[in-house]
Amino acid sequence: LLSVQCRGDLRQQQRGPPSDQRWCGAPGGGEDHRPQPGVRFSGGAGGQGAAIGQEDLPSFGGLMTLHPADPADRIIVALDGMAPEQALRFAGQVEGLRWVKVGLELFVQAGPEVVAQLREMGLRVFLDLKFHDIPATMAGACRRAAALGAELITVHACAGSEALKAAQAAAVEGAQGAGQPAPTLLAVTVLTSWEEQRLQRELAIAQGIAERVPALAQLSATSGIGGCVCSPLEAAALRAQHPEPFALVTPGIRPKGAAVGDQARVMGPAEAIAAGASQLVIGRPITKAEDPSAAFAACCGELLG
Ligand code: C5P
Repeated sequence: LLSVQCRGDLRQQQRGPPSDQRWCGAPGGGEDHRPQPGVRFSGGAGGQGAAIGQEDLPSFGGLMTLHPADPADRIIVALDGMAPEQALRFAGQVEGLRWVKVGLELFVQAGPEVVAQLREMGLRVFLDLKFHDIPATMAGACRRAAALGAELITVHACAGSEALKAAQAAAVEGAQGAGQPAPTLLAVTVLTSWEEQRLQRELAIAQGIAERVPALAQLSATSGIGGCVCSPLEAAALRAQHPEPFALVTPGIRPKGAAVGDQARVMGPAEAIAAGASQLVIGRPITKAEDPSAAFAACCGELLG
């Protein structure tokens, strides 16, 4: 279960500027991210995620560090359905926001510049472009994405071990070369839009989704990928198979009172973390809220219990 004691008002917690991170190009740079005395954060299924001591920083994907006591580090707001200027304005308005997700639609419209602009605003970026290509192209794309300062980058596990290994190595090199924070690659296993029968009918994939998701997660882990994107309903099983620091990032999150919308299978923020998720992607419950800062604070509040 999630167990947090947090000092201070959440709304007063500062957004981490780029200098508030660990940098590939500046070892030991930035502020000390170790938990404050008295802060304990435990979570995860099957007894994973034991209390974190002061010397024992959690590291997602073995690379990226987060502030374990801070729920704002656990929530990634998806900047979907916004024009570039609107996305930047929105990101600048949400009090305490740390992480944003840039998806295909925004990236295709705004280009790499939007990542740089969000970074300049002190935000950490999940670049969700779901790369799937031959090894050299995957490697090139991940190198460039990491050099932009994206700290979470999605790839398709189906690209195979050679491409995944090449992508991982190139991402680390790209970040190092550009003096950017160490990136974590996240593998997409089976897109939740797929149904088992259609996988079989259209792609001749006989393996059931319940077997395929853990098999692709395993392939990703053995290829050196730092985590997976998964449904919160898959988080407990994957966490049992992959202890931290393997990252499990889950969309399909609905805080108390939020509309479910087109998400078929949802979970609350605290439940998802308790199931083993390391970070949550939340879009419309925050982006469409009348008061996005209040909605973000409410999500953080749910994590504090
Ligand atoms: O608005 P909402 O909270 O549903 O947004 C969730 C985000 O996570 C969107 O960016 C959506 O594309 C993404 N996503 C998802 N389900 C998946 C994978 C990604 O909702 N299986």
